[in-house]
Amino acid sequence: QMYQKGVKHLCDNGLNKLPSKYILPNSDRPDTSDYSPHLHVSGPLQLPLIDFAQLLGPNRHHVIHSLTKACQEYGFFQVINHGISNDVITNMREVCSKFFELPYEERAKYMSSDMHATVRYGTSFNQNKDNVYCWRDFLKLTCNPNDLHQLLSGWPSSPSGFKDSASTYVEETRGLFLSLVKAIVESLGKEIDENEEQLLLNEFENGSQLMVVNCYPKCPEPELTLGMPPHSDYGFLTLLLQDQVEGLQIHYKQKWVTVQPLPNSFVVNIGDHLEIFSNGKYKSVLHRVVVNAKKTRISVATLHSLPFDSIIKPWPKLVNEENPRLYRDTDFGTFLEYISSCEPKRKNFLESRK
Ligand code: SIN
Ligand code: FE2
Repeated sequence: QMYQKGVKHLCDNGLNKLPSKYILPNSDRPDTSDYSPHLHVSGPLQLPLIDFAQLLGPNRHHVIHSLTKACQEYGFFQVINHGISNDVITNMREVCSKFFELPYEERAKYMSSDMHATVRYGTSFNQNKDNVYCWRDFLKLTCNPNDLHQLLSGWPSSPSGFKDSASTYVEETRGLFLSLVKAIVESLGKEIDENEEQLLLNEFENGSQLMVVNCYPKCPEPELTLGMPPHSDYGFLTLLLQDQVEGLQIHYKQKWVTVQPLPNSFVVNIGDHLEIFSNGKYKSVLHRVVVNAKKTRISVATLHSLPFDSIIKPWPKLVNEENPRLYRDTDFGTFLEYISSCEPKRKNFLESRK
């Protein structure tokens, strides 16, 4: 089963044509001619900017207003002046690219066919199920705060510094996430008293966090395949660190549009749990990844949500006579089970919870 070894392995052995395992049917291929003509943008899209430093200052209400707009219109925004230092980010990027440069045998130590393994090196989207494979290898690390110390012992010991840099990154992104949750809740436009806010934040402080480091090697025939199929993220928010290589596309006004990478920023998107919490006011938007022939792309996604034993449900304040409840209660476990058993187009699940 050579394709199970991943795309990097395939490329390292020399390749000038895309193997049929990765060739998507015509209708699923990225159509580069479909470049958002009616949007009056000819190039990549600049996501709305959220200036995190401003959020903490006297202009907070302006930023909160922009946040509401961004969440409603795009389901995505990018955070600048986020307060996570350059060093933390540079170190993280470095250990991640070094990890994928390790000899195959070293990376393969972390391979597992168990979807629930807390450390898992793998390929494609769901390699146990995908008929056509995606042009992607990844390292997935569970990093829930209460177990982080213990989980760390299973993380890659090579390249040197990986555990240090990655665990620092995990903690810093969690801090940013917690501040963003506060702002997001505010942006939903309902008064929240200090007590209720504290309870909610406490829950998130002990919430779940998953980190996925993605590697999309240069691809000989990028127009025939995808790095990731259209999907929505299941959690509350995802924080994404991309490099300078374009690849992320979001579904915007019925079209696929490429997100313009912005140095020193995080791309943040709304997940299924926030769609439910907001009672549909904010939507978890479909996104996918296209690959290219010239450059390898690496991204780091951290998925943040409530604890695994939580029930996900609409915030009662957003439910009233004019705004009937749109989603049933869902426990996190049911969510995860569904996700590992279904097509990537997970929006079906949200539909089923209505
Ligand atoms: C993701 O959708 O989780 C990853 C997106 C990316 O690699 O840009
Ligand atoms: Fe995603």
